[in-house]
Amino acid sequence: MNHLLFLECSPVGSESLGAQQVLAALADCESFSHGIHVTTRSLAMEPLAALSAQYAQAVTSSAPSDDPVLARSERLIGELEACDGLLISTPMHNFAVPATLKLWIDHVLRKERSFTITPEGKAGLLRDRPALVLVRSGNPCVGETARQPDFLTPYLRHALSVMGIHNVQFVYLPGFPLSAEILAQTRHALTAFLVPSRPTGDLP
Ligand SMILES: Cc1cc2nc3c(=O)[nH]c(=O)nc-3n(C[C@H](O)[C@H](O)[C@H](O)COP(=O)(O)O)c2cc1C
Repeated sequence: MNHLLFLECSPVGSESLGAQQVLAALADCESFSHGIHVTTRSLAMEPLAALSAQYAQAVTSSAPSDDPVLARSERLIGELEACDGLLISTPMHNFAVPATLKLWIDHVLRKERSFTITPEGKAGLLRDRPALVLVRSGNPCVGETARQPDFLTPYLRHALSVMGIHNVQFVYLPGFPLSAEILAQTRHALTAFLVPSRPTGDLP
């Protein structure tokens, strides 16, 4: 991978266990790859502005992309187009994506820009690229031990696929403290995602 877009969505920023796992994996990758260019968006620490009436009007009336009110949306879509890998580290908030990540989606999921309408439904206009979503939650949200619904995974998978990003892997980090085994599996998944060509025998 050459250019990673990293969306960090925790309100505690770099204190987040998810973010720490990503930063450790990136540091590990630096030692054996030529370096991955990373564009980081801290969606909770530097939240996007709430949607304005003008933005809603521009989106629903399919205003041209050079309309100034769409400038932020254009910049965010441009970041997506420029990357060849998307990494999202997000907490689960009330069984779903946090509001800050939802706001990012409301800026990038735009008709005739990132998706179009066909007789079969919405179809993505962005090039597919690998994506990994690291989900932190207080309690398990998938698998046999889950005692809560998970609206985050199907929602995010659908939102990304509408734009054309279908190649999405989810990794879950439930509860605290996390076992050494789960942390090792997470680092393994992150490293394999960041440097897919690396022989798996070398993975930490
Ligand atoms: C507003 C809010 C809502 C939350 N909702 C859930 C939830 O629905 N399910 C869950 O398991 N954890 C929930 N949590 C716990 C967080 O997911 C957890 O504390 C967080 O992911 C820790 O991640 P970090 O170590 O990366 O900061 C919630 C936390 C907050 C602040």
